[in-house]
Amino acid sequence: MAQLLTIAQLGAAVIRTIATPIEAINLPETQQLVDDLLATVADAKGMGIAAPQVGVSKRLVIVCCQPNERYPYAPEMPPTPMFNPEIIEHSDAMKKDWEGCLSLPGIRAEVPRYESIRVAYASRSGERLEQSFTGFLARVVQHELDHLDGIVFIFRVETTRDIIMEQEWRKRIAARPPLLVTD
Ligand code: NI
Repeated sequence: MAQLLTIAQLGAAVIRTIATPIEAINLPETQQLVDDLLATVADAKGMGIAAPQVGVSKRLVIVCCQPNERYPYAPEMPPTPMFNPEIIEHSDAMKKDWEGCLSLPGIRAEVPRYESIRVAYASRSGERLEQSFTGFLARVVQHELDHLDGIVFIFRVETTRDIIMEQEWRKRIAARPPLLVTD
């Protein structure tokens, strides 16, 4: 049975630590961690979560996009666990857009990210996969992969003036049309 895990906050050492690769994907405790992360990110209404955010310094992230009150304009992506993910290609072009993080609640910032990326990873059954992402999904994947290297989104801002509080961000996006995501 899956249980909800406590989300580490910025300031905890694990959030700034480079995570280690996972060799034994099929171990029961590793599969349990996937189930617990899936439950935890759904409960927190996150678009993704990385194992270090629950205190486990291992290279595992979940990406799971759907529109909700935290991200009203998010596209749909079924919950996808990625073991040992790596960006193997990316666009030259970068784009700035808003991000938030379960480890820094109440803060939003405009962060430059590659517009499109191609990622290699292992699935929870150990299968090697490659997948391309564009737009918001590419942003979420880059954000989660950064967690595996001890990087949070506010470290990536061009200027600290691009950091605002979530309640002010809500006022700004109220009038914003949905993001068009093509893949
Ligand atoms: Ni985050």
